[in-house]
Amino acid sequence: MNLTLKIWRQKNASDKGKMVDYPISNISPDMSFLEMLDVLNNELIEKGEEPVSFDHDCREGICGSCSLYINGEAHGPDRLITTCQLHMRTFKDGETITIEPWRATAFPVIKDLVVDRTAFDRIQHAGGFISVNTSGNTIDANAIPVNKQDADDAFSAATCIGCGACVASCKNSSAMLFVGAKVSQFALLPQGQVEATDRVLNMVKQMDEEGFGNCTNTGACEVECPKGISLENIARMNTEFLKASLKG
Ligand code: SF4
Ligand code: FES
Repeated sequence: MNLTLKIWRQKNASDKGKMVDYPISNISPDMSFLEMLDVLNNELIEKGEEPVSFDHDCREGICGSCSLYINGEAHGPDRLITTCQLHMRTFKDGETITIEPWRATAFPVIKDLVVDRTAFDRIQHAGGFISVNTSGNTIDANAIPVNKQDADDAFSAATCIGCGACVASCKNSSAMLFVGAKVSQFALLPQGQVEATDRVLNMVKQMDEEGFGNCTNTGACEVECPKGISLENIARMNTEFLKASLKG
């Protein structure tokens, strides 16, 4: 395949940044999108030019590192996959592909296609955990009965990989799908009840402080989420937030 890549280049956080065109040839349709970028970077390095910075780690849809806005869609045109799971056969020979970083105030660009997603870490630190008694009296998890539907819903919420595609695809840069998933995975389980009130209040407070926008129910986040996290998690977070607020 022969392609033209239009890539966002930005030297550092304070640089203005611009789109730069890169023609690329002999790309196998079986390559992953990130492998195609590896080929480009090798060519740039051989020419003595600065390679394109982009985030990646597991390259198998687990870690949530890869984060590219491809042809105007988070993680590209396919559904329920991350950028590292996207293959070049999705595109046509001769196509021009636009590659940008996530765009959100709370995710500032560090360099080229890499953005700072530590805002998500701070939201997690604010409440995305449970306390377990490890003094020798720990209750075996299998001894705590959990309704099957609740267990399934908690597991689905826990599949969120923290990639940030929900924020990038939302016109308000809302993080409510991410926070809804993180609140839900504990709110549905008995183990999550001890900190339930503080958790939702603290996580929502941190979310607001980080500068994420509000949800206006457009649903773009659910469409672009590589893990199929449901909007129901936002509704559950809102319910949990209301209950916690009434408790004071
Ligand atoms: S809710 Fe989906 S899109 Fe948002 S961070 Fe989690 S996995 Fe990524
Ligand atoms: S590199 Fe880990 S999810 Fe894509």
